[in-house]
This record gives sequence, C-alpha cells and structure tokens, in this order.
Amino acid sequence: MRKITFLKFSADFINKILNPLGYNATFFQNTTDSNYEKITPIANYAPWKNDIKFNEIYGKIINYSFVDKYRLYELWQLVGETTKIPGALIEIGVWRGGSGALIRKKADLCGISDKLYLCDTFEGIVKTDLEKDPYFKNGSLNNTSEKIVNDLINKKLKLKNVEILKGIFPDETKQFVKDDKFRFCHIDVDVYNSARDIVDWIWKRMSKGGIIVYDDYGFEGCIGITKFVNEERKKSDRIVIHNLNGHAVVIKIV
Ligand SMILES: C[S@@+](CC[C@H](N)C(=O)[O-])C[C@H]1O[C@@H](n2cnc3c(N)ncnc32)[C@H](O)[C@@H]1O
Repeated sequence: MRKITFLKFSADFINKILNPLGYNATFFQNTTDSNYEKITPIANYAPWKNDIKFNEIYGKIINYSFVDKYRLYELWQLVGETTKIPGALIEIGVWRGGSGALIRKKADLCGISDKLYLCDTFEGIVKTDLEKDPYFKNGSLNNTSEKIVNDLINKKLKLKNVEILKGIFPDETKQFVKDDKFRFCHIDVDVYNSARDIVDWIWKRMSKGGIIVYDDYGFEGCIGITKFVNEERKKSDRIVIHNLNGHAVVIKIV
C-alpha cells in the first residue's frame, strides 16, 4: 500500500535532477481507482523558463524540497498576487525548507514586509488516519531538522523575517503566532486530519481575498487531502480551484 506514496516521492526526487536539464519523469502506477489517470496538459506557456529571479532561487532550493518546479512556480506567482491583500504568510509542512524559502524570497521581491511562519514537527507526519490516509504512517518524512531549515533560511540564503515553529501545528505552536491576519497559507502536510485542524484554526484569520494553497491535491497517494478539499467546496465563503499540477487553490471571498 505504501507503493504509491513511494512512487510520488521518487518521481519528485528524480525530477529534481531531470528538470534543470529540461526533462520530466512521470511515474505510472496501476490504479484500480477510476478517479485517477495520468494527466498531460497540452498547453505550453511556460513563464518559469525566463523568470530569472525564480530560477535563481529554484537552483538554490531544489535539494531542499519535494515540490516540483510547476507547483513551486505557482506558489511564486500566487505570493505575488497577494501584494493586493493584507496579512502575514504561513507554511505548514516545511520539511527541509525549500518551498518556504521560495515563498519568503518572492514576498521580499514584492515588497511584502509581513512575517512568514514556517511550521513543522521536524519529526514527520502526524495524525494519519488508517481509512482516510491509507498510504501514510506517522513519522514519515522525518529526515529533516529545524537546524537544516534554519541554516538554509538564515545562513545560505540570508532571508529575514521568517519565524520557524517546531511542533504539531496548530496544537503545539499556535500560541507563538502573533499575527491575526493572513494573506497566504501553504498547506503541505499530506494527511486529512492535519489539514482539517489547520484550516479550522486559520480560516477566520484569512484576509478577504486570502489564498490557501494545498499541496498533494490530485495525487493518488494523498487521498486524504483530496477528500478534505472536496468537502471544502460545499462552503459558500470560498472558491476552490483544482489546478492540474496537483495543487488545490482556495480563495476566501467574504
Ligand atoms: C511533504 S513534506 C513538506 C514538503 C515541503 N513543503 C517541501 O518544500 O519539500 C510534509 C511535512 O509536513 C510536516 N507535518 C505534517 N503534519 C504536520 C502538522 N500538523 N504540524 C506540523 N508539521 C506537520 C511533516 O513533518 C513533513 O515535514
């Protein structure tokens, strides 16, 4: 049962090497779930190719992230969109800090001076539910540390205005969050219960027009996140967008 998760992370890892060379590996798995198939969009507008600032930071964080270039570029663009909205930024699910560093860099380039919180247990995934997240177990992805992220953010990239919070979010670290308004939230926690608890905490703190990006939406290994986001569609105060790259993007409208 863990094969699908393994394939997703293997593909992500191998693409870290192949993407800069202009190639992309896709990993097929035989699936019995009729909701899934390999997706190959035929559009070819690729603004990341000539975005010098993006490629500069991408080259520096590529070994610190599981997130592929297309999802990273979407984070990059969406942070830019949030210059129109007030509030802080937050990522839950940092692992080695790659996507978090990219979010901070883009915020700086856009003149966003609000803080970015980077929240992770640094001890791997928590709150897995056998039924909702059959491909995960607690403790997966614990091959990181607060020090790795601290060194990336502060020493290697010399980024400012980032607060790293170690522990289960929101349960163990919410009290350290001093901001009460957020413009941008990246949720990359892989499992249903964690996503639910994070959204329970952050939704009333999101600014109108604020954006939540869910990683893992649309990957067969992460069906808990897909289930959670699909439930969010029923709520009238948000717009839920399925991006074919594996993101769900949710915008608060009231
Ligand atoms: C897929 S990784 C994040 C990948 C990262 N965004 C990147 O750029 O590679 C998922 C992370 O979520 C963390 N995590 C899962 N649930 C959490 C929770 N409720 N609170 C804090 N961290 C959590 C895990 O420890 C793990 O490091």
